[in-house]
Amino acid sequence: MTIKIAPTGQACGAVVTGVDLTKPLASVDVGTIRAAWLEHHVLVFPNQPMTDDDLEQFTLSFGPFGHDPFFGSIPGHEHIAAIQRDADETLPIFAESWHTDWSFQEHPPQGTCLFGITIPPNGGDTHFADQHLALDAMPESLRERLEGKIAVHSARLPYGPDGAYGAADQAKGRSMDIRASEEALAEQRHPILRKHPETGRLGIFGTFGYIVGIDGMASEEANALLRDLHAWQGREDFQYVHKWQENMLVMWDNRSVLHRASGGYDGHARLLHRTTIGAS
Ligand code: SIN
Repeated sequence: MTIKIAPTGQACGAVVTGVDLTKPLASVDVGTIRAAWLEHHVLVFPNQPMTDDDLEQFTLSFGPFGHDPFFGSIPGHEHIAAIQRDADETLPIFAESWHTDWSFQEHPPQGTCLFGITIPPNGGDTHFADQHLALDAMPESLRERLEGKIAVHSARLPYGPDGAYGAADQAKGRSMDIRASEEALAEQRHPILRKHPETGRLGIFGTFGYIVGIDGMASEEANALLRDLHAWQGREDFQYVHKWQENMLVMWDNRSVLHRASGGYDGHARLLHRTTIGAS
């Protein structure tokens, strides 16, 4: 089989065919996929009837498992989380705000793999926004305000005990196994404009939400800057909007893109299995 890589035609992302992810990958194929991932930031593999073991094996081809601090795991697979919403659920959609996974960690993960199991007939797209393009196209006036700034990242707004997915949310019966905790109150600092650790390409790392402040800046000023940044980062020009199918795997580079879930599938269930590719 020959691997084929077809760009999506949107701001980023490519569809990969000619590879069977139910079998261990040859090292030459791992190299081809990694090169495509670094170039396109989001890779889509349709028609891959993978088991959970296959998903773990694929993930480990690209790095160690990351640490997922606020999710329970599925039975028998410590490193797989279920991204789940029941058909009758009415709580806010999980992860509907722009973010890059676990940016509040000291060594944030390289990437995330998400595998479609139950896909609603409409809606439930995942949006990605290319943060290299967003920086390249950024007005100088905004870029000057960000140069040299260090962001303060924390998981406290979503995953703190009083956060969006805290005790009050769990009490309302969310189906997904989210485990808010005091651990979410910790902070880490990362530059806002940052070189990709592998390609060296400059981009914007993280966004308002997991970013809760800017080092040495009063919160009112920091929030105004973070709001302006957030509005710029998610513009349509920088986006790839991903439409899911069953048996489809997507892997994205958290160092290059932001992503967010979307709704529009009330009355239908949605289930995907997720792994995290840790920092290498
Ligand atoms: C996530 O951020 O991991 C979830 C994305 C999605 O549900 O589309």
